[in-house]
Amino acid sequence: MNIDGKAYRTIWLADDGRSVEVIDQTRLPHAFAVRRLATLPQAADAIRTMVVRGAPLIGATGAYGLALAMAEDPTDAMLDRAYAILLQTRPTAVNLRWALDDLRDRLRQLPPDKRRAAAFARAAAICDEDVAICRAIGDNGLRLIRDIAARKPGGARINALTHCNAGWLATVDWGTALAPIYRAHDEGTPIHVWVDETRPRNQGASLTAFELGRHGVPHTVIADNVGGHLMQHGMVDFCIVGTDRTTRRGDVCNKIGTYLKALAAHDNGVPFYVALPYPTIDWALSDGVREIPIEQRDGREVSHITGRTESGACAEVALVPDGSDVANYAFDVTPARLVTALITERGVCPASEAGLLSLYPERRTRH
Ligand code: MRU
Repeated sequence: MNIDGKAYRTIWLADDGRSVEVIDQTRLPHAFAVRRLATLPQAADAIRTMVVRGAPLIGATGAYGLALAMAEDPTDAMLDRAYAILLQTRPTAVNLRWALDDLRDRLRQLPPDKRRAAAFARAAAICDEDVAICRAIGDNGLRLIRDIAARKPGGARINALTHCNAGWLATVDWGTALAPIYRAHDEGTPIHVWVDETRPRNQGASLTAFELGRHGVPHTVIADNVGGHLMQHGMVDFCIVGTDRTTRRGDVCNKIGTYLKALAAHDNGVPFYVALPYPTIDWALSDGVREIPIEQRDGREVSHITGRTESGACAEVALVPDGSDVANYAFDVTPARLVTALITERGVCPASEAGLLSLYPERRTRH
């Protein structure tokens, strides 16, 4: 994507060829800063502290984290240690495990002196593939948006609603849920996006609003509890979100609060779409509510909030009285029955095992 006239991905190999650079998402939207990751601990820390976040980008950073580990020590012992360190950084987005499994399986078959180059090459390929996948999700979702636009009287503006950030900042480029919106906007469809602020980390207010604004897409940030009201009053034509892990039956795990939006959409007959790349499908799991591990993060993300003061400085302030307990569940699961359709790089399908298998027939046998 373009920032101040320069094309950026969210992660790239640095000029020295030995480290990677990422956009520091903890600084957005107030500062656009690039951070260098030169070691395994730095890559693991960037994932854990959400310098990088979003399921596909977490996977890409995990892949580069293994490459950085191989540059330091290409032994089997290091491969296993780096795999374990990176895997435990964040538990919910399955793209991380997918990328780490992919690299570990390939590297194990190579002699140690070939592993560093192979790991960097594979991490770069995973990034390129993510860009191609997201572009294809954009094409497939665009067809749905065109259908919605065709049903609007007199070319009236379409209103989408999204939760959290599933745009280019959550992937390597383009995004999952936002890719079809960018495509529709670019081809001249009048589209406006309601952006849920997405407490506690505010990925909607900070990141989705930043992205959409830089791309020129009209949008309005709303408090997390507004969506149901808007849907009751016909002010949302469709909801579209990403996902961090989707089961073979089509249960969708995404940022906390997604489930409530899906319930409101169902009650009001508003289509609820989920956009996802294939590494987000966990073919080993069926029942998302019972089987997907839900990350619980530091309660300080709930009890405090960070923003920019009038003077331009960033500051953290407390919201909750001293002594109150807080709980910070980071994700929830939307059952497949509440999802109108899944939008993947291979096409659009019902959120069901049969739907997913119609696009991924090679998964008919469990493995
Ligand atoms: O905690 P995050 O910011 O890593 O969570 C990301 C999300 O939940 C997004 O909503 C997204 O849809 C999944 S990644 C495209």
